[in-house]
Amino acid sequence: MSGLTIMDPLEPHTWRHGTVVAGMPWKNPVGTASGTFNLDACGDYYDVSQMGAISTKGVSPVPWEGNPTPRTAESPAGMVNSVGLQNPGVDHYLVDELPRLKALGANVVTNVAGHSDEDYATVVERLADSPADMLEINVSCPNVSHGGMSVGTDAKALNRLITRLRGLTDKPMVVKLTPNVTDIVEVARAAVDGGADALSLINTLVGMRIDINTGRPILAQGTGGVSGPCILPIALSFVWRVRQALPEVPIIGIGGIDSGRTALEFLYAGANAVEVGAAALVDPVAPMRVARELDDLLDERPDLADLLRKGECWR
Ligand SMILES: Cc1cc2nc3c(=O)[nH]c(=O)nc-3n(C[C@H](O)[C@H](O)[C@H](O)COP(=O)(O)O)c2cc1C
Repeated sequence: MSGLTIMDPLEPHTWRHGTVVAGMPWKNPVGTASGTFNLDACGDYYDVSQMGAISTKGVSPVPWEGNPTPRTAESPAGMVNSVGLQNPGVDHYLVDELPRLKALGANVVTNVAGHSDEDYATVVERLADSPADMLEINVSCPNVSHGGMSVGTDAKALNRLITRLRGLTDKPMVVKLTPNVTDIVEVARAAVDGGADALSLINTLVGMRIDINTGRPILAQGTGGVSGPCILPIALSFVWRVRQALPEVPIIGIGGIDSGRTALEFLYAGANAVEVGAAALVDPVAPMRVARELDDLLDERPDLADLLRKGECWR
């Protein structure tokens, strides 16, 4: 991962290359990835309205405490986490984080978490008339005992859930997929057939670290989700395969992005936009730095820039 970047958050920048995801215009193709952005922590580093989009931490029907600690561990070129969707719940989100983000002018993608179909439906209904610009349904968290990833690994269950949610909201709905499946195309298709307007991929891969002094897992939960540059090649191959099978669906590529160049790889793999996750935990300015580097790289690639601007993709 890159080291800390000193960047003047007020440095003026006029974006030259935007994108469109499921009808929603982004100033640039780079968003923050869910769970790695917190307004209180990141808002001082850069102007959040200048990101393509801000994907929030997963929002559940009631406050969730998350998993016991320790719940993060470093790993070669990445990390493993078992935070477990800790968040203050949708009521708090609607009166606190969401209005604050909108007041700052951010494009908000609200990440939705649940333990059951009922949970997801409750949150989506509560958000239906909110100022959130887009909903990202997280059916891919490996760190909750039920719901989360179990929905995202079962094409039938996923299709049933997304069909139900589609009936509850007119907001653009992105479904966030897990790589912990045998056939990503089958689940991608199930989400789109259920009414997903776009797909985001990938969430973390199941992994763990062991403390060799105790012989026990480092994470209290045992296993967690791996993220960071080590998952980049895997994430790219998932985007590539889904794009191959579903040429029309907008895709947000996620996984190991820490530079404009790695973001560009996702755009060439067929993504319409990207999100930056773990890199922001090392360098809080990383999402903005990636966006600016990508803006420069797109200057030299007018064909790709033109496709993105029209809401289309490279392949
Ligand atoms: C600490 C942490 C918390 C996360 N929380 C969420 C979450 O609440 N909802 C979600 O959809 N993804 C969550 N993710 C997954 C990221 O959004 C992203 O999909 C994943 O980390 C891969 O991208 P990266 O390699 O750039 O981090 C989380 C990741 C990390 C590292």
